[in-house]
Amino acid sequence: MHKPVLLKEVVANIRIPAGGVLLDGTLGGGGHSEAIANNAGGKITIVGIDQDSIALKKVENLLGPIAGKLILQKGNFRNLDKVLKDNGIGEVDGIILDLGFSSDQIADSGRGFSFMKDEPLIMTLDDSPTEDVLTARDVVNLWQRENLELIFRNYGEEKRARKIVDAIISGRAKKKIETSGELAKIIEGAIGRRGKIHPATKVFQAIRIAVNDELGALTEVLPKALSVLKKGSRLAIISFHSLEDRIVKRFFREKANQGQVILINKKPIIADEEEIVLNPRARSAKLRIIEKI
Ligand SMILES: C[S@@+](CC[C@H](N)C(=O)[O-])C[C@H]1O[C@@H](n2cnc3c(N)ncnc32)[C@H](O)[C@@H]1O
Repeated sequence: MHKPVLLKEVVANIRIPAGGVLLDGTLGGGGHSEAIANNAGGKITIVGIDQDSIALKKVENLLGPIAGKLILQKGNFRNLDKVLKDNGIGEVDGIILDLGFSSDQIADSGRGFSFMKDEPLIMTLDDSPTEDVLTARDVVNLWQRENLELIFRNYGEEKRARKIVDAIISGRAKKKIETSGELAKIIEGAIGRRGKIHPATKVFQAIRIAVNDELGALTEVLPKALSVLKKGSRLAIISFHSLEDRIVKRFFREKANQGQVILINKKPIIADEEEIVLNPRARSAKLRIIEKI
């Protein structure tokens, strides 16, 4: 079961009045929405979006009884304005975006997010991608050397990108790379193992970001999120790596300088040691919050 990160910090900052609307763009296991709804002044409407319909199905029983109204939508949060419009909602009283993937998706999606498992290389957050959608298998087997190196460096901040790309290129020349286990083995063979962190960690992150256009979706959603937010209401975003955090930080600063929002926290809120012990995923989480004026 996915453990929501920085839960008390999110609940303290996203307060929805009775009858108000919470927009959760990354519903996942529903943990943040559940806690925010339980802390609200009364019944609220929850609009939950996720690209993964398995997550949406699981969450229905959890949120149904506590929400005044529950609207679940499979899709990308980059289209949140359309989701609200289609449901006749103009503005919302709070937004939470908890980026990336959930531990449920690592544990049992079967889509190859983890280098610890041997699953088909898919890595789409969408659980039922259409045939024409880019998958991790396409990236690893079809992309040119330069493009692989670029994403490993830029999205994975992987310094040994060239060595890894060499190994992938010679590996795939012998046989198509089909599974997460095969890819992890090639990476480990290229750069060996040092310390506790698995050598494939950064490359897996890079491929997942590329496959899901995660930075593009984040860049696109920020102005939309701000525009659907009511004055005096808050947008909270949890990111898990510096590329995401940089995009959020810059957007928030720019809007604060333009007098459209106030920064609730100048420095990102991070998890305390107690939470990190219980939930290692929280180690890299950074929470930034703005309030619309
Ligand atoms: C970290 S989990 C969210 C966990 C959730 N806050 C909870 O408390 O259980 C991220 C979820 O957001 C979804 N997701 C990530 N990027 C998305 C996007 N651009 N559009 C829609 N869903 C997205 C993933 O499929 C995943 O289920």
